[in-house]
Amino acid sequence: MTKQIRLNAFAMNCVAHQSPGLWTHPRDRTLDYNRLPYWLDLAKALERGRFDGLFLADVLGVYDVFGNSPDAALRNAAQTPANEPLMLIPAMAAVTQNLGFGVTSNLSFEPPYPFARRMSTLDHLTDGRVGWNVVTGYLDSAARGAGKDRQTAHDDRYDIADEYMELVYKLWEGSWEDDAVLRDRARGIFADPSKVHRIVHEGTNYKLNAIHLSEPSPQRTPVLYQAGTSPRGRKFAAQHAECVFMSGPSAKIIGPRVAAIRALAQEIGRNPAEILMFSMMTIILGRTEAEAKAKYADYRAHIATEGALALMSGWMGVDFSTYDLDQKVRHVQNDAGRTALDNVTRADPDRVWTVREVVEHVGIGGAGPVVVGTPEKVADDIEAWFEQTDVDGLNVAFATSPGDFEDIADMLVPELTKRGRYKSEYAKGTLREKLFGTGSARLTEQHPASRYRHAGKGG
Ligand SMILES: Cc1cc2nc3c(=O)[nH]c(=O)nc-3n(C[C@H](O)[C@H](O)[C@H](O)COP(=O)(O)O)c2cc1C
Repeated sequence: MTKQIRLNAFAMNCVAHQSPGLWTHPRDRTLDYNRLPYWLDLAKALERGRFDGLFLADVLGVYDVFGNSPDAALRNAAQTPANEPLMLIPAMAAVTQNLGFGVTSNLSFEPPYPFARRMSTLDHLTDGRVGWNVVTGYLDSAARGAGKDRQTAHDDRYDIADEYMELVYKLWEGSWEDDAVLRDRARGIFADPSKVHRIVHEGTNYKLNAIHLSEPSPQRTPVLYQAGTSPRGRKFAAQHAECVFMSGPSAKIIGPRVAAIRALAQEIGRNPAEILMFSMMTIILGRTEAEAKAKYADYRAHIATEGALALMSGWMGVDFSTYDLDQKVRHVQNDAGRTALDNVTRADPDRVWTVREVVEHVGIGGAGPVVVGTPEKVADDIEAWFEQTDVDGLNVAFATSPGDFEDIADMLVPELTKRGRYKSEYAKGTLREKLFGTGSARLTEQHPASRYRHAGKGG
């Protein structure tokens, strides 16, 4: 059977997100990011297009690497200001029935105990439609906001994240047994205390002695997403992730990363089919080739170079204000994300990019490729991309929102459905059941979280 194409929409509770400057385009509505009608319309458009999920990025910190100042980010609204993402979800869930919500939360600045409760609450309120994108951050500005001088070293952040995962697994999977909640009106007993267990954890980075405050939610552990693809990031993904998000400019770069994570997962005893790979892509559609090209050219005229430089500097930990636009980008090792810089310096030995080329590339849709054309041509491009990379889905960034997503729902989705590559209706159940079709809302036995499940009795 041909592989189904899954779609996530990629957005953030800010102006413009991955397309710096496009907020000045008349079609874009992200200036209304701080009001609910924008989000409700977006959620409804995505559900009309049977998108699997809305993936909400979050960056806890200001992009102040460029020129060692937040000015460029502020002038250009380069993911600054950025509001909190979790609070959007209940409102969007109330106007949809099937759309999933993959929300980013940075574990470096959030103790496991209140965070686990917040996610359980969301899983309850959405009937199990929630996922968590596990990130550890890449900006020193976030660390300074939290009382540290700088962020923790790159690989150490992943080590800390491993322990954090162990703790939230214990809370989500191990604290309440499945039949702990009785809700027995006749006897006046809500829960059986013998089936609710205290989690006691004394580790290198965390200490906790508590029961989980939420009763078991439909999925218990939310669907786990992760997006780092450095060597240490891949190891973390192979261990924990159910969905991996990647970004890179070409199939030549994405394909080997997909294969590497699948191989690593196999090595540690996980079924690689239980990890879905999504790569970033921006899709610009028109009824004719000429219309699509004209739309793309019009979008490009709104790119803000300084905004793109501010984003790139933050992602790569390199101050591009010290570069000439025609200089080649040099590889350096630092504590920001590793993959964004690798993409343009050494992931493809045939291509080292100049700063200007990177600006032109990230100006629309960040680090992923942009495909432009009629629904037929774009569907051909996507099918070829799937063939070359072996991904399972796309994380679709936008130039204008919700307009580009409405185009996808109205033009591309019918074409992909006609080709038998896209679901004609949503599967039933929670986000995990819809994504994996396993018939269970819970993580599989092979996932490391399952070892913290309570076997029953006492404790
Ligand atoms: C598609 C995609 C989405 C991401 N979203 C976020 C995000 O919302 N917040 C964040 O702090 N980092 C985000 N990241 C960054 C990753 O979590 C990670 O920090 C980065 O890729 C560097 O990790 P690495 O050095 O292991 O590659 C994203 C990365 C990708 C590829």
